[in-house]
Amino acid sequence: MEGEPFRIAVLASGTGTNLQAIMDTLHGREGIEVAGVGSNKPEAQALERAGAAGLATATFPQADYVDREARDAAIGDWLDGLGVDLVALAGYMELLSPELVARFPARIVNVHPALLPSFPGLDAIGQALDAGVKITGVTVHFVDEGVDSGPIIVQRPVPVPPDRDREALEAAIHATEHALYPEAIRMIAAGEVTVDAANPRIVRLGAGD
Ligand code: GRF
Repeated sequence: MEGEPFRIAVLASGTGTNLQAIMDTLHGREGIEVAGVGSNKPEAQALERAGAAGLATATFPQADYVDREARDAAIGDWLDGLGVDLVALAGYMELLSPELVARFPARIVNVHPALLPSFPGLDAIGQALDAGVKITGVTVHFVDEGVDSGPIIVQRPVPVPPDRDREALEAAIHATEHALYPEAIRMIAAGEVTVDAANPRIVRLGAGD
């Protein structure tokens, strides 16, 4: 890829293993750069990972702002300042304000540990185990104002182990996330992902879906 790099920012609240996968497989390759990592949690391990990789970091603790809108306005200004082409949520445990979503139309993505629209929200893996499904999986989707409700970009199934062991299922799902999320971001950077103008629920993939 030539010309300007495709710049992404990552927002994370937790351990940051998906951030790590993005940094390890995409940063500085194929014209993609991670321009910065932001968090609502100053203590997030994700920020340590970003610092160790020499990336710019920023923290936006809710206590520093009068309300969610004010905090998300600051996040939006930071993202604009970085000049990002894409915002990747990676274990970011806050719902974005409608104003922030509107500032980056079809330019915010998320990874979710279930086959949406099944099991949105918290503890998707526990929800799947409780429901007794035999197959769950991973979804990468655009972010809208709802909880894990935006247009689906890619999905990959993960079988539930016959003994329903939670740790084993978590490991399989996280390994799948770490492969699928960078793949999806790479496709977006390559211009291979488009939202259908006639039906914005439908996301078309250049390589065929
Ligand atoms: C992942 O399971 C992701 O799907 C969910 O939160 C978790 C984040 O893990 N949204 P990590 O911080 O990337 O390790």
